[in-house]
Amino acid sequence: MYEGPRTVRVEDVPDARVERPTDALVKITTANICGSDLHMYEGRTDLETGRVLGHENMGEVVEVGEAVDRVKVGDLVCMPFNISCGFCENCENGLTAFCLIANPDPNMAGAAYGFADMGPYNGGQAELLRVPYADFNCLVLPPEAEERQTDYVMLSDIFPTGWHATQLACVRAGDTVAIYGAGPVGLMAALSATLKSASKVFVVDRHPDRLRLAEEIGAIPIDDSEGSPVDQILDQTDGVGADRGCECVGYQAHDPEGHEHPNMTLNNLVKSVRFTGSIGVVGIFIPQDPQSPDPLYKEGEVAFDYGLFWFKGQSIGNGQCNVKAYNRELMRLIRTGQAKPSWIVSHELPLNQAPEGYEHFDHRDTGWTKVVLHPNFG
Ligand SMILES: NC(=O)c1ccc[n+]([C@@H]2O[C@H](COP(=O)([O-])OP(=O)(O)OC[C@H]3O[C@@H](n4cnc5c(N)ncnc54)[C@H](O)[C@@H]3O)[C@@H](O)[C@H]2O)c1
Ligand SMILES: [Zn+2]
Ligand SMILES: [Zn+2]
Repeated sequence: MYEGPRTVRVEDVPDARVERPTDALVKITTANICGSDLHMYEGRTDLETGRVLGHENMGEVVEVGEAVDRVKVGDLVCMPFNISCGFCENCENGLTAFCLIANPDPNMAGAAYGFADMGPYNGGQAELLRVPYADFNCLVLPPEAEERQTDYVMLSDIFPTGWHATQLACVRAGDTVAIYGAGPVGLMAALSATLKSASKVFVVDRHPDRLRLAEEIGAIPIDDSEGSPVDQILDQTDGVGADRGCECVGYQAHDPEGHEHPNMTLNNLVKSVRFTGSIGVVGIFIPQDPQSPDPLYKEGEVAFDYGLFWFKGQSIGNGQCNVKAYNRELMRLIRTGQAKPSWIVSHELPLNQAPEGYEHFDHRDTGWTKVVLHPNFG
């Protein structure tokens, strides 16, 4: 659970339980640490202490409420990080990241497990998880998922989120695609662009281990500590720029020396993408960030190069991923072996080693590219 900036602890808490007839109780077998957890871990959100983190969850159903029809005890399930009702106007339209019911705050749309401002729900970096609206939120997995948990658990967030980045950017076969960020999300965007038959996929970062993973799936690594990433992309696109761009870093974007500039990736994308190209932003930006070193961003404002963006006739799409819009189809790609999102997993740890996992992943220590926790063993 979150204990304050850069402190997480593993403690006994009251067991999650079925609270409403539409809930299921899931015994967690696999739960990941995400880059989104790091914004909270670093104390850069208003997450309250004592909350159980963890929104990338899979496990076995051990109990269902009396109004749960479809999901059965014993099913192996993966939950979207979004908690959504399935019957509000946004859910009906597939916009489950902006559910109008699941978050009790009337001024907010969208809910998630163990997440700042996304409702009161605890996360799955724990032995048990309460899943609201279980019939809607549980993706029932095929039996073989038991043996391939590190692939299937990625359906909870980062694989659909990487896919979403390419959807927002309107990636089509033959396109050239520039992706900023080679964290788990950027790597999944690269995988998604590749699955969509992009002709060239550039991935920008400065961590050699992460860039190597991009290269393993055929992407072109761009090391921005060796020179302007914009120039490197223009050089390899006949000076025109990429057709599409994906932002997979978020508001804590920084230069290779570590100084934060929340506008850095957005403005680099405007320059890296061609006239009339399109950009998808899935890296997180938040309405207030009092600790930002950038005076504008303390109020959530970004010095965006709107003039050039407008002049180039580009378009942009952004926001949380509606995981349910994609998870079933992406599950099929995992099942047939066309997608193996586990290639980025570097560490599988028992839950009691979560604090070390957070520390190393937060430092972006070499070789710590994705940490997977297994709460019910070790
Ligand atoms: N929209 C959604 O639904 C959704 C879902 C999951 C994660 N996210 C967000 O996506 C972002 C990435 O997540 P992650 O798990 O990959 O995180 P991560 O922090 O592990 O990866 C971010 C990567 O960006 C790199 N980076 C930093 N500044 C850069 C710059 N200026 N140019 C290029 N690369 C730069 C870092 O070196 C790092 O490797 C986070 O903001 C996370 O909160 C959004
Ligand atoms: Zn996540
Ligand atoms: Zn809803």
